[in-house]
Amino acid sequence: MKNIVNVALPKGRLGDKVYDLFEKIGYDCPSIKDPGRKLLFENADAGVRYFWVKPSDVPIYVERGVADVGVAGKDILLEFSPDVYELCDLGLGKCRMAVASKRNFRDDTSRPLRVATKFPSIANNYYRSLGRDIDVIKLNGSIEIAPLLGLSDVIVDIVETGKTLLENGLVPYETVTEISARLIANKVSFKFKNEEIKEIAARAAEAVAKKEASE
Ligand code: PRP
Repeated sequence: MKNIVNVALPKGRLGDKVYDLFEKIGYDCPSIKDPGRKLLFENADAGVRYFWVKPSDVPIYVERGVADVGVAGKDILLEFSPDVYELCDLGLGKCRMAVASKRNFRDDTSRPLRVATKFPSIANNYYRSLGRDIDVIKLNGSIEIAPLLGLSDVIVDIVETGKTLLENGLVPYETVTEISARLIANKVSFKFKNEEIKEIAARAAEAVAKKEASE
């Protein structure tokens, strides 16, 4: 009898793409496509139970073993450093973490740089590696407005198409790191549901490799 694998999916645009990938590699769960607000879906035949959670909460569910596996952006993993295994890069949700500022910004190195971000750990680590003192200002959204209103000198934020920066008159000038979605696993589940989890990771890696080869 196969173990059911509990999968935490990030709710939203990325999650839809991730579910499509899981469906393609044999872990379909048709009821997930029903309109409505249910958050928990199971297909015992395929051996999966899915639940939709807020993207930044995926590592919490996986770290605590409520989910055996999950999909989280590398941004969330770098920011929160959860104690989980990172099994493979799904090549979805590709974007980058960048430093951006107003076009005429000049860094005054005689004082700490004011950095607005949703990702204070990533920002602190990045500037520590450059030996630059910063004053990190943690925000929860609409980061682009901070330099416009003089709350910060720069932002450290996700850039996907670059449209949000452009429309707010900001320019990206350094890439902190490339981002994409990763398949992660709970460390204990990886022992006890090893066969099932390895099978998911292997099929996902194969599908990703095939897709990348055809692009
Ligand atoms: C992210 C990020 C930018 C935007 C960048 O926000 O914080 O605002 O996407 O995308 P673009 O380069 O394609 O314009 P998100 O949509 O995740 O919303 P949030 O600020 O509510 O987290």
